[in-house]
Amino acid sequence: MLQVSDVAALREQIGSWRRQGLRVAFVPTMGNLHAGHLALVRQAHTIADCVVVSIFVNPMQFAPDEDYDSYPRTLDEDMRQLESGQVSLLFTPSVEVLYPCGTAATTRVEVPGVGHALEEDFRPGFFVGVATVVARLLNLVQPYCAVFGEKDYQQLAVIRQMVADLCWPITVIGVPTIREDDGLALSSRNQYLSVAERLRAPLLYQTLERVADQVREGSPDYAALEDEAMKSLAEGGFHPDYVCIRHVDTLAPVSEGEMHCVVLAAAWLGRARLIDNLRVQWPG
Ligand code: PAJ
Repeated sequence: MLQVSDVAALREQIGSWRRQGLRVAFVPTMGNLHAGHLALVRQAHTIADCVVVSIFVNPMQFAPDEDYDSYPRTLDEDMRQLESGQVSLLFTPSVEVLYPCGTAATTRVEVPGVGHALEEDFRPGFFVGVATVVARLLNLVQPYCAVFGEKDYQQLAVIRQMVADLCWPITVIGVPTIREDDGLALSSRNQYLSVAERLRAPLLYQTLERVADQVREGSPDYAALEDEAMKSLAEGGFHPDYVCIRHVDTLAPVSEGEMHCVVLAAAWLGRARLIDNLRVQWPG
């Protein structure tokens, strides 16, 4: 596996693959890799000849009171995992390489609609940070396809819309969420949970399952389902930000009886903010 940190070396390697007619798949990450990230890499391998992974903890998507400084950075261990996953190239740019003029002075990408609800209400500016860095990375790598996790369902929707709106010839692929045996979605932030909190954490997914079941069974009042779910999370020791039943593509509020929906939730448990989602109908 080649590791490069500067743009010239990245472009040279990718240009050489392109001249050989090889397809490149791209998996952007913030590192501290786990089985969820590795599932994206495996999916990328099934589609393309070369897999490029980036590791970059993007300052632009963290608010000043968030965990940018303490976000786990584990490059050596990440590289070991990627070597065994047969990644062709690891791109590890510095903040200066991706934001030569600083994050405040840079051109930004804003995705209205899907980017203006849910997470954005609780983390203002988050999706501008995500869309801006992903736009830069996609323009640098210029892959045939880019692979993201459905774990961050709204992020995936924002990226799909950005790529469509900006007419980039890139296929965006979503990969189902990888979970622990008890249902907790894998996340780098799960390590912020204490032992007692970790035991409670599966309640988030159980709550999503209950809401999705109730929607499937024809429960008419979606607002009541969302309220009940918030209450049950609070009783279980969480501080929920939201539990929302939304349209599976647009993430707009849905009218009762709509089955093309996804249940999305975000909730604090101790110092970890957990997010998760569950589609009411499995695609296909
Ligand atoms: P990060 O949290 O490192 O996640 C990188 C990718 O892994 C994202 O596409 C995310 O949805 C996916 N992922 C995380 N946990 C997963 C799980 N349990 N199952 C399946 N996929 C999972 O998301 C980001 O980084 C950043 O916002 C980024 C897109 C890199 C932009 O900075």
